Amino acid sequence: MRLPMIAGNWKMNTTLNEATALVTEMLKGLDAIEGVEKVVCPPFVSLAAIRDLLKGTSVKLGAQNLYFEEKGAYTGEISPLMLAGLCELVIIGHSERRQYFGDTGEVVNRKIRAALKAGLRPILCIGERLEENEAGKTAEVVTEQLKLAMDGIDYPPGFIIAYEPVWAIGTGKAATGEQADETIGLVRRNVSDMYGKEAADGVRILYGGSVTAANTAEFMRQSEIDGALVGGASLKAADFLSIIKQTSEIL
Ligand code: 13P
Repeated sequence: MRLPMIAGNWKMNTTLNEATALVTEMLKGLDAIEGVEKVVCPPFVSLAAIRDLLKGTSVKLGAQNLYFEEKGAYTGEISPLMLAGLCELVIIGHSERRQYFGDTGEVVNRKIRAALKAGLRPILCIGERLEENEAGKTAEVVTEQLKLAMDGIDYPPGFIIAYEPVWAIGTGKAATGEQADETIGLVRRNVSDMYGKEAADGVRILYGGSVTAANTAEFMRQSEIDGALVGGASLKAADFLSIIKQTSEIL
């Protein structure tokens, strides 16, 4: 049995005040829900304040990115050592990082290594772009992204992957449950080829891309999908709670 995970990726949204208000609102219902690993990933500048708010609760904290060096002259960057004292998880290889900030497969690989070395649990994001999907290259693209990201890295215990088709992110056009399940099944087979059956049975693979309270059930009913990485809907306490509640009832 894999413990489902619902993680909220707030992206570049919320000021410090908005972030603490949002978590305070969420905590009214979130803490009591069992059977789901619950994670919020606010912007870097709010991590410390939110860590304090989450102390003693069942909600975990993640960052949205890191740099792969431990320290030095890298103006504006955040190191794994800085995050290690603040949060447990870190999103790596999000398509927005790949698209706007030059996170190549090699960079993603270095970031995964750095996160693991610092004791952070990575949530590795992979997913194909619209033109790749339309050209029938989904399997090829996600297979290649996973291979590059994990090249030379031993299977990390508690590993989490998020399959996020780029065409479904922030577009309101989610994949269907069957589409997501099929690709996530393929990713699991890839994990099996790389790391063996036990790893494949244990790895949690989330779906991400326009997940809402209205379509959550469709994803969670699929056999391969272990939860969701939620963007826009994770910025509304009631919606995020509903997504988590439904997941705890279905999975
Ligand atoms: P949306 O849920 O806003 O489509 O974003 C998904 C995502 O990118 C989560 O990382």
